[in-house]
Amino acid sequence: MAAYDFDTVIDRRQVPTSKWDRYPEGVLPMWVADMDFPVAEPIATALRDRLDHPVFGYGGPGPASLRDAIAADMQDLYGWTISPVDVVFLPGVVPGFNQALKAFAQPGDRLVVETPVYPPILAAAGNWDLTRVDVPVLPVAQGCAVDLDRLTGALAGAAAFLLCNPHNPTGRVRTRAELAAIANACLSSGAVIISDEIHCDIVYGAVRHVPIASLSPDIARRTITLMAASKTYNIAGLKTAYAIIPDPDLRRRFIAANLGMSEGANVLGLVATEAALRNGRPWKQALLAYLEANRDHLVARLEREIPGIRITAPEATYLAWLDCSELDLGDAYRFFLDKAKVAFNPGPSFGGDDHHVRLNFGCPRSMLDEGIDRMVKALSQR
Ligand SMILES: Cc1ncc(COP(=O)(O)O)c(C=O)c1O
Repeated sequence: MAAYDFDTVIDRRQVPTSKWDRYPEGVLPMWVADMDFPVAEPIATALRDRLDHPVFGYGGPGPASLRDAIAADMQDLYGWTISPVDVVFLPGVVPGFNQALKAFAQPGDRLVVETPVYPPILAAAGNWDLTRVDVPVLPVAQGCAVDLDRLTGALAGAAAFLLCNPHNPTGRVRTRAELAAIANACLSSGAVIISDEIHCDIVYGAVRHVPIASLSPDIARRTITLMAASKTYNIAGLKTAYAIIPDPDLRRRFIAANLGMSEGANVLGLVATEAALRNGRPWKQALLAYLEANRDHLVARLEREIPGIRITAPEATYLAWLDCSELDLGDAYRFFLDKAKVAFNPGPSFGGDDHHVRLNFGCPRSMLDEGIDRMVKALSQR
């Protein structure tokens, strides 16, 4: 671990950043999904080298070498064979699923999502005048699993299913069997699968991520898979992501729906993404070990010191979904913001209730401890 430093606290208020700028000084931000860690050295080096070339014109459809690196990664990490031409570069996963909805749904169509879920997924149906059909994930006690009966019913006549796997905010990773059942239900109903897999690389222990499109060529033909190096390597501000669309017709329709809104990716983001995929793995392994220890530390401290909070250790992501209903705080987000000076994401923004908050543990251990200390103190002073 000594080769990588995840412990040093970096003053992020010196540069503009959503995470640290939204709340006044004195509030500890544990909300938006970026981490308080420095970028991996191979990425910093690649960016510096690129800066030595003084021209920053349009990047075009993206470098062939990066397409090759993505195809190699899919094979190596997931045993999924794709062709480099299947890749479409984008400025983000959020633009990607919005573009997919423009391409594959008409106003008035039904879009199925599982709740709670990442707020822009919740908002996407409204962007395109679609009717959103919510399928609540089964409760924590039942492992936040997919409610297949309900999902199958909801998919009847739906244009698309917008899957989030690994799941934000619960951190659950869908099993191969669950994914097969979801995919079969979508194929039977004719719904296109739009799969946001941005957290695919931040998975702990023996759990494995399975891209839903990797299950079979038939499923791949109906799926738009959205990924990025941005969460794993903490480069979200470089605005670069990619869609993997093996079916040429689906890919053509997806690209045609761009309408000038989200074409191409940032030239520095492409460089950073390639450096991450080609040379970032040792850093990633160290990061995962650190995050997993943070997760275990968080769960252990909450269980010991705030047993009124229910938490299931996330299998993936650096996000934890806290059920505070037993504490009877009213609006839990407000309580922790006002009384503990810790900023989480409020449950209702995910389609959950206000007893839930989402905590981001992608930070130095000392910062995580500071957040938990503040929570414990505020609760003791109630
Ligand atoms: C599930 C999910 N999808 C997408 C994003 C953001 O994607 P992008 O910044 O590439 O638009 C996030 C960020 O937290 C996320 O959690």
